Amino acid sequence: MKLLLATQNPNKVLELKRLSHNHLDVVSLKDLNIQEDVEETGKSFEENARLKALWAYQKTGIPCIADDSGLEITALNNEPGIYSARYLGEDTAYSIKNQIILERMQDQSDRSARFISVVCLVLGENDVHCFEGIMPGSIDFEAKGFNGFGYDPIFLPENHSLTYAEMDLQLKNSLSHRGQAFRKVIAYLESRVEYEK
Ligand code: IMP
Repeated sequence: MKLLLATQNPNKVLELKRLSHNHLDVVSLKDLNIQEDVEETGKSFEENARLKALWAYQKTGIPCIADDSGLEITALNNEPGIYSARYLGEDTAYSIKNQIILERMQDQSDRSARFISVVCLVLGENDVHCFEGIMPGSIDFEAKGFNGFGYDPIFLPENHSLTYAEMDLQLKNSLSHRGQAFRKVIAYLESRVEYEK
């Protein structure tokens, strides 16, 4: 089936295609030449994901999904949370943001953190389903690794000795917050017989 992933990020499209074993014909806003984006005014990951997916569905009439993700650090009152992209300035390089977070974490004994992703699927105005993926872990003592993006170099997923940025994409996707949520969407679509093909 054709599914619009409401993102400008081609990596997310690839990730979803791969996870569905190429059974989903995933297109992005970019593929449809839609340059606008909706403002994330929600107060939770779910509200933002729902807002984006409904907006894209209303614009195109194509079944849509959208995700909203972020990092919650316990000792920093769960910051950056839903403001992960804008935290410490939208245009600030992540190498600097990560350094600032490491400094703020210097004297903290509780280094626990988690990545959360909520993916909303819109099959019709009243046919909306949201799925959550959570990866618990901790903030490392220094930035490590060069793969991935964002806060990957400082996040150590639970039961692993490598940061997200030290993992190859396949390993990261197999355990990541977004990978978990995407897999739930695919399983749900597979359970809906009418969307099998
Ligand atoms: P988005 O909702 O996927 O666009 O993510 C919002 C922000 O959360 C990103 O700009 C990153 O700062 C952060 N983020 C989300 N997922 C990840 C991830 O897998 N690795 C690192 N940072 C992430």
